[in-house]
Amino acid sequence: MDTQVGSNIGIAKKYLDDGFAVGIPTETVYGLAANAFNEDAVSQIFKIKNRPAFDPLIVHVADFDAVGRITTHIPENAKKLAEEFWPGPLTLILNKSSLISDLVTSGQSTVGVRIPRHALTLDLLKALEYPLAAPSANPFKYVSPTSAQHVKNQLGGKLPYILDGGHCEVGLESTIVSFDDETPVILRLGGITENQVKAICPDVRVKIQHLPDSVTIPGQLLKHYAPTVPFIPLTQVSGSIKEDDESIGYLFFNKPNEQILKNSKLNIKWLTQNANMNQAAANLYSMLREFDGQNLSRVYFEWAPDEGLGKAINDRLERAQSK
Ligand code: TXA
Ligand code: MG
Repeated sequence: MDTQVGSNIGIAKKYLDDGFAVGIPTETVYGLAANAFNEDAVSQIFKIKNRPAFDPLIVHVADFDAVGRITTHIPENAKKLAEEFWPGPLTLILNKSSLISDLVTSGQSTVGVRIPRHALTLDLLKALEYPLAAPSANPFKYVSPTSAQHVKNQLGGKLPYILDGGHCEVGLESTIVSFDDETPVILRLGGITENQVKAICPDVRVKIQHLPDSVTIPGQLLKHYAPTVPFIPLTQVSGSIKEDDESIGYLFFNKPNEQILKNSKLNIKWLTQNANMNQAAANLYSMLREFDGQNLSRVYFEWAPDEGLGKAINDRLERAQSK
């Protein structure tokens, strides 16, 4: 199948109406979307991604009314978080209504829902008569895509259309929050920080797990988000790096010092020019992919400061390093 890339909502809608899976931009990462009410269309997503059936999908909607239709009960704290952060990088895990099939939720009674903050995709969602089930548009376990080209590089030939909405503004997946009665529980750190959630719901708990591959709990596999080249933490970034082997990459958080920069043999990238956490997040996945395309023996990386979005960046770096 020939994969077209363009920013025509009408073409995207036509393919979605016909039951195809289509690449869509969001503010977090690109999604591989299909009609959430059409089981054949949803099953294409699992096939194209090579995703196991036990890993449930997030459902994307345009507005609160649509959330009401696909869920049965919305805790007060979920409403508060939705009001504060939607449209935006927050996924709420809520009890599903019968409109959502077990295929989408991998048999669970809950469904992940979010209103994304991307003008093209919001317009697309408004034009559709159904919500869009969409995981990140990468092969299972690999780094998420933050541009249409990333999607084409890996999934080209398997889907008819990628809606091109430019480079993703946030660059990390949504923060996932479930509810233990009224208490919010963060299951995945992402574009909304723990402190942002805490400011709305002071009793929030965090339950991030890094489980081995043999365990089939959704979203918690350690090897998710992993590039192919080994990523190894630079435990100490001092003034000198001894190894100038060209098969080694270096990923710094901030722009490194002159002594490091003047060694032109080093293959260096940095996530941000001036310790800007948003910029670091937006660059992370592109840089992991660039290193991955260079046939390196390994990449040494520096952790981000462990605060705000840096915690989500470090979570992804930690998963990137596991082999
Ligand atoms: O930012 C994002 O969330 C992107 C964009 C495309 O919206 N989507 C995304 O989807 O990252 P995905 O499928 O790659 O990651 C969603 C995670 C999965 O690990 C899945 O296990 C978890 O959310 N999830 C989905 N539904 C769930 C549920 N009912 N209970 C617990 N976890 C759930
Ligand atoms: Mg994913």
